[in-house]
Amino acid sequence: MSLRAATLSMLRQGMGDWVSGETLAESLNVSRTAIWKQIKKLQEDGYSIESASKKGYRLLEVPDVLSPDEVCPGLQTEVFGRVHYIYLEEVGSTNTYARELAASGYPEGTVVVAESQTAGRGRRGRAWHAPLSEGICVSLLLRPKLPLKEISRISLVTAAAVAQMLETQLGLTASIKWPNDIQIRGKKIAGILTEGVTDMDGVEYIVAGIGLNVNIRAEQFPEEFRDRATSVLAELGRPYSRGKLLQSLLAHFESSYQLLLAGGFGDILKEVRKRSTVIGHEVHLDAVNGFVTGLAVDIDDNGFLVVRDDSGAMQTVMSGEIEVIP
Ligand code: BTN
Repeated sequence: MSLRAATLSMLRQGMGDWVSGETLAESLNVSRTAIWKQIKKLQEDGYSIESASKKGYRLLEVPDVLSPDEVCPGLQTEVFGRVHYIYLEEVGSTNTYARELAASGYPEGTVVVAESQTAGRGRRGRAWHAPLSEGICVSLLLRPKLPLKEISRISLVTAAAVAQMLETQLGLTASIKWPNDIQIRGKKIAGILTEGVTDMDGVEYIVAGIGLNVNIRAEQFPEEFRDRATSVLAELGRPYSRGKLLQSLLAHFESSYQLLLAGGFGDILKEVRKRSTVIGHEVHLDAVNGFVTGLAVDIDDNGFLVVRDDSGAMQTVMSGEIEVIP
């Protein structure tokens, strides 16, 4: 552990209580000047630390950042973010960055997080906007041993994990608009972009990118999305720690993913069906191989949408843009 992390950890343990410079220095086996330097740096990085002679230092408030200092100590995962937690103040796209790492051999469990993206990408070539330090933009690197036809399952695993996290951590009722928009009261709160590279033998890697609207005020959404988008802040009526949410998100993702790898996709599918906003509704689909209109009947074992079209024929759609017909 670095001196910075160790200093922070000691201050955190006594959150709000004074910890003397001497105690810090002795416990960490460094000089008091070295401690003072770390405190100065932490203060510059947004930590509210009070100092007083004879008393020492006390931590009053931590910044709402997704840095390793804030996220890693409270990680509840075994793999995700444990070895490679890559934190960037600014990046084009965390998905693109994670794909580059994947191509250069980084292992499963690598997590790429950014405070802001200058070229955040959404599905179907759209842009993904997130105001600086107010959302979560994260990409997870996976190397699953899955046959090609099961790749679509990853999107549903990710969607189920995000929805479960919003419910258990925040008490919000989250639905899934197939394939992978997460909605609260019919408004989008999170989007997922899964991208992969495959070869003859199967999957080389998959990057699951998640964009979650956290402390974004309604007026910060581009005007055209305002009535269709929401955020944790808008739903709870107060801001929420992004670091805590990310920890919870990674933990939920890891357990859903492990369940998938252990052959438990059936349980994930149940969860997705239960939360689906489309099953049982008339839908209009703009799919890769054309438009389909009909009744969304089910999501099948591969994560594909089954639609009974207007001629009564069953159509299986792998991915597409869906509109529920009121
Ligand atoms: C969508 O709803 O269209 C998908 C949005 C996915 C956005 C996330 S933010 C983190 C990751 N990096 C990207 O460039 N995109 C995904």
